[in-house]
Amino acid sequence: MNIPFVNLKAQYQSIKPEIDAALQSVLDSTAFSGGPFAAQFEKEFAAAQGAAHCLAVSSGTAALHLVGMALGLGPGDEVIMPSNTFFATAEGVSLYGAKPVFVDCDPAHYNLDPARLEAALTPASKAVYAVHLYGQPAPLGPIKAFCDTHGLVLVEDCAQAHLATYEGRPVGTFGAAGCFSFYPGKNLGAYGEGGAVVTSDPALHAKMAALGNHGSRVRYVHEYVGHNYRMDGFQGAILSVKLKHLEAWTQARQKAADLYRQHLAGVPQIVLPAEAPGVRHVYHLFVVRAQRRDELKKFLEERGVGVGIHYPIPCHQQAPYQGGGHAGGELPVCEAYAPQLLSLPMFAELGEAEIQQVASLIGEFYAQ
Ligand SMILES: Cc1ncc(COP(=O)(O)O)c(C=O)c1O
Repeated sequence: MNIPFVNLKAQYQSIKPEIDAALQSVLDSTAFSGGPFAAQFEKEFAAAQGAAHCLAVSSGTAALHLVGMALGLGPGDEVIMPSNTFFATAEGVSLYGAKPVFVDCDPAHYNLDPARLEAALTPASKAVYAVHLYGQPAPLGPIKAFCDTHGLVLVEDCAQAHLATYEGRPVGTFGAAGCFSFYPGKNLGAYGEGGAVVTSDPALHAKMAALGNHGSRVRYVHEYVGHNYRMDGFQGAILSVKLKHLEAWTQARQKAADLYRQHLAGVPQIVLPAEAPGVRHVYHLFVVRAQRRDELKKFLEERGVGVGIHYPIPCHQQAPYQGGGHAGGELPVCEAYAPQLLSLPMFAELGEAEIQQVASLIGEFYAQ
């Protein structure tokens, strides 16, 4: 059996002529860095996410770093965020010198628990980062209300949530900005690295564009010390092609999630993912909580099923953050869940027969 965790080859094969033609256009025009292909993608992605502006950048981490820099966040500032996220959410904050303050996740949906925000608030708090983990929007209503009450900036980490919505509105449009990743395995993945920031604020967009281009708005005139975070032309052209297919791929992921639910319904040792009310979950990952997780993982891998763990160590227990008063024990939900989480194969081309095979192997494991 060979059921990979993601299948980038199958996806490429399904759109090969379009991708190959797009790559050829970049070669023919030699527009390799920034330029018209990245600019065209910015327009299309802003429209897809219902945002006024989009800046295409070199990665999701670059997007997170740029937002904080452009908002003027830095040393002495605190940014409240979930600990149950990919390390880059915290890294983006540390890169501009502010301090990530980690809060626990909600036990049902694994996203930032708004009930934990109050306790994390200090006079140094400046922003809250809402992460839409696994493709499920965080509870933006209560998070935004908290930010408004306390004068905090809301930033969304949408790296796993392209086309997800909260109460019918696309993620990335609720706060100052939304940061996306186009890492190859993401729902919208580049053929290399890529990211984007969407915002409705033209001044923020312009400042981020300058900061990501050596602090320059006019060639060889540098207003700030920035970075080279431009998107390359190949990624812009590829992402424009792939964006046209994203809605269909998203629906295929949702269908795969439904099939997993049906086929795993009778396995009491597995807790299936719960959808929060009012969200469109786009299933970047299908994450279950499993009894004897490590043994199950080995059992599936030995039988040719690709699985993952997202994430084995919560951010507050990662080495760079342990010195900040986060030795462990204080965020009980994410600490208890980390050894149980298991991500099953999830990609648009995954078929029912494969899902059935994964589910029956899981049943077989618990029956032994
Ligand atoms: C939640 C989250 N935030 C940030 C990132 C960083 O994105 P990138 O890998 O494009 O730098 C990722 C993905 O890798 C992610 O999943």
